[in-house]
Amino acid sequence: MDYKAYIAERLPVEGVSREEIEESISVPPDAGLGDYALPCFKFAKILRKPPVRIAEELAAAFPGDGVISGAEAVNGYLNFKIDRRGLAEDTLSRITREGERYGSSSLGAGKTVCIDYSSVNIAKPFHIGHLSTTVLGGALYRIYAFLGYRVVGINHLGDYGTQFGKLISAYKRWGDRDEVQRGGIHAINDLYVRFNREATEEMEAEAREYFRLIESGDEEAVGLFGWFKQLTLDYVQTIYEKLHVSFDSYAGESFYIDKMEPVIGELQEKGLLTESRGAKIVDLEPYGMPPFLVLRSDGASLYGTRDLAAAFYRKQVYDFDKCLYVVAYQQNLHFKQLFKVIELMGKDWAKDMVHVAYGMVSLEDGAMSTRQGKVVWLEDVLDRCVEKALSIISEKNPALENKEEVAEKVGVGAVMFGALCNNKIKDIVFSYEKALNFDGETSVYVQYTCARASSVLAKAGEYGAFSCPEPNEQEFGLVRALADFPDTVRAAAEKYEPSLIARFAVDIAQKFNKFYFDCKILQAESEERKAFRLALTRATLTALTNALTLLGIGVPEKM
Ligand code: ARG
Repeated sequence: MDYKAYIAERLPVEGVSREEIEESISVPPDAGLGDYALPCFKFAKILRKPPVRIAEELAAAFPGDGVISGAEAVNGYLNFKIDRRGLAEDTLSRITREGERYGSSSLGAGKTVCIDYSSVNIAKPFHIGHLSTTVLGGALYRIYAFLGYRVVGINHLGDYGTQFGKLISAYKRWGDRDEVQRGGIHAINDLYVRFNREATEEMEAEAREYFRLIESGDEEAVGLFGWFKQLTLDYVQTIYEKLHVSFDSYAGESFYIDKMEPVIGELQEKGLLTESRGAKIVDLEPYGMPPFLVLRSDGASLYGTRDLAAAFYRKQVYDFDKCLYVVAYQQNLHFKQLFKVIELMGKDWAKDMVHVAYGMVSLEDGAMSTRQGKVVWLEDVLDRCVEKALSIISEKNPALENKEEVAEKVGVGAVMFGALCNNKIKDIVFSYEKALNFDGETSVYVQYTCARASSVLAKAGEYGAFSCPEPNEQEFGLVRALADFPDTVRAAAEKYEPSLIARFAVDIAQKFNKFYFDCKILQAESEERKAFRLALTRATLTALTNALTLLGIGVPEKM
């Protein structure tokens, strides 16, 4: 609820615009004075009256209602109080009514958003670097869908390039069919690493030849490549299931090989293509950028060429209103160039392309650090975190049933939350200990709070309708925060920042726990209060569940 706007709308001041009034309203440092205040000093000149009188007159004319109970003039300030009971009643009945839809809207009805995320490379490890794009993209996917958009999740596979020639060469030299089938991506990666370690001039030439064979559709080469691709996809699928993400399209780079020509033709036609040392480029110097490479001197396409074709394809097939690329900030320049080229081609939809950049994730734990030249497989990080979660849970609550299941939600959630809880552009250092801290600003803390709320509700058994008493400080703090969820979801979509939802969840959990420790729920002073507090507990559980679900994190009933 945008209270400032709400107040400004009901407070006409002659000669002053509504926007100006809205901007002048602030939150007083002392809540005892009111929830919002408008200083009237600025208006003295325009209205030719002393501020004290202006405040008094405005106070007398302000209509109180179930949202803002009224206005009071104090020393030239106009102080407003939120109608706490009104807000509690509205918020709780809305959450009760909307349940798992609370926070959703139809804002995006009729609009389409494409989200390019995860976009793994075939035959390469799924490492910790893919964590952010996968979970951020997955969260944005659910957030936009929750707001009524049609969302198209695209895994722009890195499935094209000379490295696949190397892989075939390595496989033919040292590979064993059964071993690779069994070892999957790990076996493929080993072959690839070995090739790079031992490669001679002759082997490199052979690899180029194999790549050429893939391109020309040679049955054996294409077959082997298809097999490697399938093994990679089978493997990443198991990780996607753990992280609760899915895709509507796996059209990767190779998909665009036969779709580049018309786009390159259009570049040519529009006079944008120039030659530079045999290569074809789009000159971006006037825009302070290096040239965008379209074709190498040997005629081969590049990563950018395939992205250009992909953008046109997506526009044509999905007719998107927005096309997001959830890719690390290392590719800032690439996307700036790509979007510029599209703009230069005269496409007004260039403005709808967004690079959702994010920072790097590294591990605090030295034993698994990339610096020693070792890749950190995401799978290992997830397994390890689940294992640690299991040991903590077993210690805290030995009698808990389904410990493994809970540990999976807690451990995987902690890794995901690590990539979701900070402003996305920040580099993060992941620490198992911090991520699994039951009292920190963590997913575990939020999950634990959900379990606490569930347990209170289970103990209460049936409880019926409630009527709202005047909320006390703790109750009101919680209600007010809960009421913000729909705005938070919208802001998260607008700013491509799921961390807003993560922070909302932590904030609600903190406020709920304050309420839980300061106010008796089951032993409340009256039946009316008890019913109200139970409704508040139920609403908290609903909002937290919705928040975690949007982030892709599971909610255990007991912990
Ligand atoms: N496969 C690429 C990488 O790992 C990311 C692709 C991102 N998406 C895109 N349309 N360029 O770096």
